[in-house]
Amino acid sequence: MPRKIIIDTDPGQDDAVAILLALASPEDITLLGITAVAGNVPLELTALNARKVCEVAERPDIKVFAGCDRPLAHSLVTAEHVHGKTGLDGPDLPAPKMPLQDAHAVDFIIETLRSEAPGTVTLCALGPLTNIATAFRKAPDIVERVQEIVLMGGAYFEVGNITPAAEFNIYVDPEAADIVFKSGAPITVMPLDVTHKALVTGPRNDAFRALDSHAGRTVAAWTEFFERFDKEKYGSPGAPLHDPTVIAYLIDPKLFQGRHVNVEIETVSELTRGMTVADWWGVTDRPANAMFMGDLDADGFFDLLTERIGRL
Ligand code: RIB
Ligand code: CA
Repeated sequence: MPRKIIIDTDPGQDDAVAILLALASPEDITLLGITAVAGNVPLELTALNARKVCEVAERPDIKVFAGCDRPLAHSLVTAEHVHGKTGLDGPDLPAPKMPLQDAHAVDFIIETLRSEAPGTVTLCALGPLTNIATAFRKAPDIVERVQEIVLMGGAYFEVGNITPAAEFNIYVDPEAADIVFKSGAPITVMPLDVTHKALVTGPRNDAFRALDSHAGRTVAAWTEFFERFDKEKYGSPGAPLHDPTVIAYLIDPKLFQGRHVNVEIETVSELTRGMTVADWWGVTDRPANAMFMGDLDADGFFDLLTERIGRL
């Protein structure tokens, strides 16, 4: 039975690959809609990019909604230095023909959770958690109806990528992350501890290009653009493909290993704003609230991803 999901996202090349993976996997995933949030680039661009990605997969039928254009309590921090000024630099993609939905993304999240059977909709968060936290604040009744929140964000052993202490998605809107992590909804976290082991090495990028399809060439061009920042900063052999780990988890959870632990979010200190304080070693009596992943089968992940992108 395919899982019904909403992808909340700030495309971003890695978000884009995650969306393609979901669209290429109808036996595992029914994509109810895509909700764009401000993050890597401003909202207008993330809402545009989400539609460009759907058209790469020839799926103009997918409903795309624009959501919050700024974090709950801070001014927006973007990441053009990583993703380029369009947020989707690399291949030249045409402006989308498909429309943006009229409804606000937050209202789509609320209405979907209220209308679908309880416990049957998974929220896949690939960017700052502003839309989801806003929906939870506006309609607290929907929290218990969420099947699972699977999100890319945070870090423990890997510490930060935007500051020494914090990962970008959580750093941009720590108040939203705090609401989500305290909500009581079942949460599975793909932190940098996992995504920094999902590196698009040369051979892995070559495998995308060897698919010899528009989708395969587009994915290869996205990852080639996206990798230059991380290779320079970390000296790594390729870009960490962060967001597709969220979708791969839904398709084959055995690819991942982690621990159910307490995770709390720093929202007060400027120095460590957005840090995910994961009690990995169980040194506190704070209740566990998240399945915090620590490792993955990287070859298995890329084999799955390449096979599925090859379907498009
Ligand atoms: O820190 C990595 C995360 O920030 C990814 O989701 C990437 O797309 C950016 O949003
Ligand atoms: Ca993202």
